[in-house]
Amino acid sequence: MKKQNHKFDTLAIHAGGKKKNPENALNYPIFMTSTFTFDDLDHVEKVMSFESDDYVYTRGNNPTLRHLEQRISALEGGIAAVAFSSGMAAISSVLFSLLKSGEKVIAHNILYGSTHNVITKLLPKYGMGYKLADLTKPDDFISAIDEKVKIVYFETPVNPDLSIIDINKIVKIAHKNGIKVVVDNTFATPYFQRPLSLGADVVVHSATKYIGGHGDVVAGLAISNDQDYINYLKFDYMCEFGGVMSPFNGWLLLRGIKTLGLRMREQEKNAKILAKFLQAHSMVTKVNYPGLKNFSGFELAKEQMIGFGAMLSFEVIGGLETARKIVSNLKLAKLAVSLGDCETLVELPAAMTHRGYSSIELKKYGLSLSLIRVSVGLEDIADILGDFEQTLKNI
Ligand SMILES: Cc1ncc(COP(=O)(O)O)c(C=O)c1O
Repeated sequence: MKKQNHKFDTLAIHAGGKKKNPENALNYPIFMTSTFTFDDLDHVEKVMSFESDDYVYTRGNNPTLRHLEQRISALEGGIAAVAFSSGMAAISSVLFSLLKSGEKVIAHNILYGSTHNVITKLLPKYGMGYKLADLTKPDDFISAIDEKVKIVYFETPVNPDLSIIDINKIVKIAHKNGIKVVVDNTFATPYFQRPLSLGADVVVHSATKYIGGHGDVVAGLAISNDQDYINYLKFDYMCEFGGVMSPFNGWLLLRGIKTLGLRMREQEKNAKILAKFLQAHSMVTKVNYPGLKNFSGFELAKEQMIGFGAMLSFEVIGGLETARKIVSNLKLAKLAVSLGDCETLVELPAAMTHRGYSSIELKKYGLSLSLIRVSVGLEDIADILGDFEQTLKNI
């Protein structure tokens, strides 16, 4: 079957795995083995010198993980990928692989909390510098560039304020200055946005989120169009730092990813309805959702994404006290840090996912203590709306 020309939903089910499945299994098996045996020392030589693509040891390669890497590459429009034990393993390995001591990364000033910590606290311990800039304004990026900057790093939509960053504009400026572009595509997923097609060099994912989709796995992925870079990332970083994905988790992702398009379409439908409901509510002062016409990133989101996703955040009258009551009193929507699951999840980023930011930083970057983030799930929208309506009414 020629898979390259197929549409997203078909690729999500069929892409990956050039070899025939053992025993004609419909689902690609979980190769739960740490090591692989060789026929003889000639075979060892062929595999170790990459003349054969057979396997040595699961920390380097594993059939289930290779199958997953091929599938996510097809979905992101990349050449190759590396599977990691978590999103943070992927992100930290990519950052370390692209920087040397004395070099710098420019990152958007708002990032997922642990990514912000790696960039602002860990990298400097090893002599790697950083600058934070407002990458929604390409001029801010230009002003931050100096000859030591080798990477620009951002999420779009941004966690948790949903700002949209112009990937293509950042790519053009970056490449003119010899800077690599790394995009965290966790919120949009390849279903709504493909940063590689807009010129990005590396895409990273917390596959824990929509890619897995069922809240039962922690995993990460990095994808690129540069096979040499992927080999370097895999064998010099993933393999040596040791942040390998378990084949069992790889299998869970292969299963979850089959319904990625289906889930994204339905979750987006629910998110649009909830965003409009919140926008019209008298207690709500602001809704951040890229699909709302009056949202600052709406036009850009329409250009670089094919949909708006299912993440939103909002502010209420009464500030932190009211926000705390809301997240504690919602019944169907659960209070939790993750996102992208079937369940609707809510959280207060300043107190939870982004608590690594100091209160001064939060203020400086416009993140309020009372912002409520919602990962809109797959429950019936009438029940989701009922939960929010009742909670807001009681408060
Ligand atoms: C946008 C984003 N990137 C990366 C991560 C880190 O991923 P993981 O928890 O799989 O290590 C998260 C986690 O919430 C995230 O929201």
